[in-house]
Amino acid sequence: MQKSPELRKEDGIWTLFADGKPFTMLCGEVHNSSASDAGYMEEQVWPFLKGLHINSLLVPVYWEMIERQENVFDFTVLDAIIKQAERESVKLGILWFGLWKNGISSYTPEWVKTDQKRFFRAADRNNRPMDVVSPFCQAAVDADAKAFGRLMEHIGEKNEEQQTVILVQVENEVGLLGSDRDYSRAANELFGKEIPDGISSLYEKSGTWEQAFGEEAPEVFMEYAYAKAVGRIAKSGKRACPLPMCVNAWIEKFPWRPGGYPSGGPIARFGPLWKMLAPDIDILCPDVYTSDFQGICREYRTADNPLLIPEHRRDIKNISHLFYAVGTCQTLCFSPFGIEDFLMPPETRTGIGNPDVMKILNIDRNAWECEKTGEFLGWAYQLLDSAMEVIYRYQKLGKVYGFLRENEHEKGTVIHLTNCDIRIDYLDQKQDTPKAAGFIIESGEGEFYAAGVNFRYSLLPLKSEKRQLGILEYSEGRFENGMFKRGRILNGDERYCMLMLEKPELQRVKWYFYQED
Ligand code: DGJ
Repeated sequence: MQKSPELRKEDGIWTLFADGKPFTMLCGEVHNSSASDAGYMEEQVWPFLKGLHINSLLVPVYWEMIERQENVFDFTVLDAIIKQAERESVKLGILWFGLWKNGISSYTPEWVKTDQKRFFRAADRNNRPMDVVSPFCQAAVDADAKAFGRLMEHIGEKNEEQQTVILVQVENEVGLLGSDRDYSRAANELFGKEIPDGISSLYEKSGTWEQAFGEEAPEVFMEYAYAKAVGRIAKSGKRACPLPMCVNAWIEKFPWRPGGYPSGGPIARFGPLWKMLAPDIDILCPDVYTSDFQGICREYRTADNPLLIPEHRRDIKNISHLFYAVGTCQTLCFSPFGIEDFLMPPETRTGIGNPDVMKILNIDRNAWECEKTGEFLGWAYQLLDSAMEVIYRYQKLGKVYGFLRENEHEKGTVIHLTNCDIRIDYLDQKQDTPKAAGFIIESGEGEFYAAGVNFRYSLLPLKSEKRQLGILEYSEGRFENGMFKRGRILNGDERYCMLMLEKPELQRVKWYFYQED
């Protein structure tokens, strides 16, 4: 049997392994409801993914569907989708839509929704029940943990035939929306007590939650509640089938008040708390719908947390974040949301793009537009898929350098190689084109590869260098089985500027010194 999918840190670099080989998920996440019907996936999703060159797909599994009746499980739809994925040679990441999704409990089965006594709700500060099961409700957490454990057991059985499922996201954007904390009786009782030992030692504080954390107490209290609950659920699943597991965060947004974003969610600054209370969760992930991409990557990619992007904004301008995520951050996954829309005629796309839904989801409308994104993503994924073997090789040597134009005030950057510098000038940002982005692979003395979009590059001698630099060969091409297959040699008019335009490209440069002392 093939080695199970696993997450390992090798040479200081976190790597996801599938079928025993490094695997970067060039991915997309389907719309929330697409995977509730295998026929819809067959007719309305898979046909529109073909031109995108994805190697993986994130699809939800819904508690309300797999356990309609308590203790009676049905995985028919999931099995059909796994079969479809195998036919398309695409790996799957499963999103467990269980107790909590975007801060509410809309995916719990009917027998959970309708029994508010056994499965009590969170309450707001006016003690009104909210549309979310309280994370302090042990019966609910146990019921979810049991269902998730059965799902993971089933996935383990399916994976014995073919390792199709390689990642699992536990719940979706957990946290309490609309209130800074849960004010239910059980929650209030706990909130008035001493903070637990683990929290006390982690934050070196003592006393009640308010004595220890002051005005931050409600949010830290909810972080404790959700991390502990999700930790219990993840443990149940990991015991059944030890796949890499992650959680995704609705990241903090203006006006930065917990409850305005889900209070208690796995946001980066509570990483240590989540790692302590939910050790079976391997990765905390950001859902990226804003444009401060480098800042988000710095927050989520840390020594003990690889970067994995399960949801990314859809617009052509920011989709080139992909090159920075791969080149600089060794992301395990890059996954624009609602991927089935990208090559679909606009009139047949799902309706959630309308302004009212965008407002509820607190998503900037510009982040949602996906005109022109599909074509670009197909080119970029095809280029990267062929280049990943080479990227892994040089990433281990610290010889891959990513860059990204974060805003229109930036003119460019300088990449420092061993024996020369490379000046990167960002091309003017035209309407509906991707931000300048890319990476350089230093493949040897006097040779490097460049990949990306919308930049011009040139060689600069090191400041200390007296000799001049010249180009031996400048060519375009692609990688095949880890080897560079050269296309045209670019010389004459094509060499005055070494350029990457709006279509992602790969180029190789061989250079030399002249005018020896
Ligand atoms: C973030 C959520 O995680 C997704 O399921 C989806 O609701 C998007 N927001 C917006 O469509």
